[in-house]
Amino acid sequence: MAQSTTWNPDSYAKNARFVSDLGEPLLALLDAKPGETVLDLGCGDGALTEKIAAAGCRVYGCDASQAQLQAVRHKGIESFVMDGQQLGLKRRFDAVFTNAALHWMKYAEQVVAGVANALKLGGRFVGEFGGQGNVETIRQALHSALRKRNIDPWTVDPWFYAAPQEYTEMLNRHGFTVDYIELIPRPTKLPGDILGWLEVFAQPFTKAVAETDRPGFLAEVRGELEPTLRKTDGSWYADYVRLRFKATR
Ligand code: BEZ
Repeated sequence: MAQSTTWNPDSYAKNARFVSDLGEPLLALLDAKPGETVLDLGCGDGALTEKIAAAGCRVYGCDASQAQLQAVRHKGIESFVMDGQQLGLKRRFDAVFTNAALHWMKYAEQVVAGVANALKLGGRFVGEFGGQGNVETIRQALHSALRKRNIDPWTVDPWFYAAPQEYTEMLNRHGFTVDYIELIPRPTKLPGDILGWLEVFAQPFTKAVAETDRPGFLAEVRGELEPTLRKTDGSWYADYVRLRFKATR
């Protein structure tokens, strides 16, 4: 049974602020206009939602994590808890925006169907998430350490990483025309040790291991990754690959 991730806003801010910091090109692709109604799907702590609001939009944040939404509300942004795989919204938005959230939603077809329903006619879906091959080195190390413990990694692996063709076809099935889609390899320097990244993003894998074995599990994964992802100056990189797209319906 897959374990979920607990989003700790402080740990996220310390170890993963780069996720929203790197969102500027996606905001440019959204090109939000004053007066538009926009949904930020999987808004996290609302760092980008706030920027969409600053463009003069009426923006709503939605996320499955109550803890993250507290931070959003502190920014004065309207928000609600909702699982993106079960969006129950009808023809309300000019645009649905999403950054670094869709790779946590394995029922991708349901997400796209929900977004299609949530958009007004002619509305756009603009997003970025993990693309095919995203953090492959890290994923392999996590899988291998679990296999050594006789745990099938696919029972806990929470990630959906799509290829451009596959995602284009999915969008088309739900009535979208894809205006732009691109797989973007983006090795990303981490703000600290890879253990900080694992603390935020690899919880479903770590939680599958007995509590007493978790420090050993993480040390093993770190050791496996060090030759590839740690540079000679000591800095760590994650082998990110993003899938960025804009589609209209
Ligand atoms: C991210 O949110 O950017 C992310 C999460 C897990 C794996 C890769 C990327």
